[in-house]
Amino acid sequence: MDKRVIVITGGSSGIGLQTVRQLAAEENNHIISFSRSEEKMRKALKEIGEKDNINYFGGDITKKDDCQKFAQYVEANYGKLHGLVNNAGIITNGGIEMIDYETWKYNLEVNLNGVYLFTRCVLPLLRKAQGASVVNVSSVASFKPGRSIAYSVSKAGLDMLTEFLAGDLAPYKIRVNSVNPGLVVTPLHLDNKIFDKKAEYEEMLNKSAEKYPLRRIGKPGDIANLIEFLLSDKASWITGSIMKIDGGVTISNDLIPPKENN
Ligand SMILES: NC(=O)c1ccc[n+]([C@@H]2O[C@H](COP(=O)([O-])OP(=O)(O)OC[C@H]3O[C@@H](n4cnc5c(N)ncnc54)[C@H](OP(=O)(O)O)[C@@H]3O)[C@@H](O)[C@H]2O)c1
Repeated sequence: MDKRVIVITGGSSGIGLQTVRQLAAEENNHIISFSRSEEKMRKALKEIGEKDNINYFGGDITKKDDCQKFAQYVEANYGKLHGLVNNAGIITNGGIEMIDYETWKYNLEVNLNGVYLFTRCVLPLLRKAQGASVVNVSSVASFKPGRSIAYSVSKAGLDMLTEFLAGDLAPYKIRVNSVNPGLVVTPLHLDNKIFDKKAEYEEMLNKSAEKYPLRRIGKPGDIANLIEFLLSDKASWITGSIMKIDGGVTISNDLIPPKENN
């Protein structure tokens, strides 16, 4: 049987890396991790252990040339693409008085425009698979204003892109869905300097966990499990869905706080 070829953008870290790890455990999958730093990817894949069904491709989803080169590489080596996980993303902190226009634009460039560009470049390969699945990694920040104006707006735009593409690509049997995580422990917040000190970040994690009805922050594997499902044939009737995966944080509110443990 032909292997399922799946690309994961931002596969060198956090949610993307765990998704690479889980999907590669299935021998019938061939996983390609796409992100900017080849060194980071080399290290990450070393951590997973020698596997001949994973490789990586260095590139930036905001650069047309990189995305086109990647599409040519897949065309030449695999001929088609069965799965695309648009996971690469960045975060900035603050509202309109804190974030300058350049920062705003760059956040949208990566989290929204980059997804559009990358998807458009690989679309002919997805069409050839006749039943491909695209999963966009969004956030619960898309549902209501959080701490970052640019991040929330980029993810709200991404949710609409998901719905639009689901309709656009249904004639080719390509399914498109979003997963919208709550807070997940990954390098995202420290790498993007949302917190200067690790201790501050850890304090935030502890405080935040109390606000989650299930009383814990997410793990990359929680999200990878849902991505894995959406890529599989078990999800063959799901498209255009925006799926919260957040330990219940979006149903928790000040009127009905989470119950204390007995
Ligand atoms: N962690 C959370 O609490 C949380 C919650 C909700 C949603 N999310 C979303 O989950 C996704 C993954 O985040 P994470 O938490 O796993 O973060 P992470 O550990 O920082 O991983 C981000 C990945 O994106 C890659 N990347 C960033 N900019 C890129 C670009 N221009 N082109 C290609 N690759 C790029 C990074 O690799 P390079 O630096 O090598 O490019 C890295 O592999 C993001 O879309 C994020 O918004 C995260």
